[in-house]
Amino acid sequence: MAKLSLKDLAVKGKRVLVRVDFNVPQDESLNVRDDTRIREALVTIKFLVDNGAKVILVSHLGRPDGKIVEKMRMAPVAKKLQELLGKPVFTVQDCVGEEVKKIVATMKDGDVLLLENVRFHPEEEENDPVFAKQLAELCDIYVNDAFGTAHRAHASTEGVAKFVKQAAAGFLMEKEIKYLGMVLHNPTHPILAIIGGAKISSKIDLLNNLLNKVDNLIIGGGMAYTFMRAEGKEIGKSLVEDDKVGIAKDILSKAKEKGVKLFLPVDHVVASTKDNPADVKVVVEIPGNMIAFDIGPKTIAEFSRVVKESKTIFWNGPLGLFETDIFATGTISIAKAIAESGNVSVVGGGDSVSALKKAGVKAKITHISTGGGASLEFIEGKELPGIAALTDK
Ligand code: 3PG
Repeated sequence: MAKLSLKDLAVKGKRVLVRVDFNVPQDESLNVRDDTRIREALVTIKFLVDNGAKVILVSHLGRPDGKIVEKMRMAPVAKKLQELLGKPVFTVQDCVGEEVKKIVATMKDGDVLLLENVRFHPEEEENDPVFAKQLAELCDIYVNDAFGTAHRAHASTEGVAKFVKQAAAGFLMEKEIKYLGMVLHNPTHPILAIIGGAKISSKIDLLNNLLNKVDNLIIGGGMAYTFMRAEGKEIGKSLVEDDKVGIAKDILSKAKEKGVKLFLPVDHVVASTKDNPADVKVVVEIPGNMIAFDIGPKTIAEFSRVVKESKTIFWNGPLGLFETDIFATGTISIAKAIAESGNVSVVGGGDSVSALKKAGVKAKITHISTGGGASLEFIEGKELPGIAALTDK
């Protein structure tokens, strides 16, 4: 990695400010519903604790828009972290200011403090330099382990790095860069990208960058029907972005030019409505009054064959309306095919991760990114401000 790593640093007795992404889902009682992002940050936190650093954690939670929002306080996250870490996690009612400074000054080596939601201050998202400097003044070393927020140029992810001597990547950040970077820069060929989801509009940059990298490209989910329309095929009443048909045509012809094998669904699970449909069936030609909600069995077989033959696989976006059980077979089958292929697999995006969970195959995936938007922007080939701001090695 070209950036300074946490393992290059002497942290004993140092105040280390760690930007984590503890933006986690909560239930109605505000308990943490999915602690994946907290668990993934433990490697960095434990390393710092074990090596005698004073660990000051900072994160956002939700989008409070620069105001104090009681239900977006970090306390439930601190509770969960304490449980997972097996040691006290101290909290404070703010993330900058006199009170915070006082508490930091009393910290002992190995102590862990979780600051209050950094987005309670409007200066965070404005990337205000005065605020960034206030954060920087809390520490001797800054570590960014919040890959999920690395695509935001905010004070705690980007600005703060300008006011510290050393800004290093945490272990989760490094792991994300390693695996997502491998997809782009040094994959074992053949490399396959499976891109699904409802709309092309959010995936244009992604598809264009992937066309320069991959050998095989599978397109599924709602967006596949805009591609089928571009090929002049009958799509019935399936989801289509009429204003993106031209872009779909471009992508199809670029794939041809570059020798990328592009796969679209060859059969479909259709119905006249998604809610309690009585007329679900598998078809090759989509009837004019029907909507395609999932890929059919022939498509599953073909996509699974491509998965098996590809040595590196990147997956983002479901292949059908998988939240509804009758339309989940395609997505679940491909999730299983990826897991069982034994090939290197990198998965990004909340929906694909939920599908892996639903399929019960999470443990067999090489790397599941903790970033939604961040993993997409990374694979789009964009520079993420949270990474760019770190100290060069
Ligand atoms: C995420 O959940 O994708 C990150 O925490 C970033 O959150 P944001 O989209 O509110 O910036």
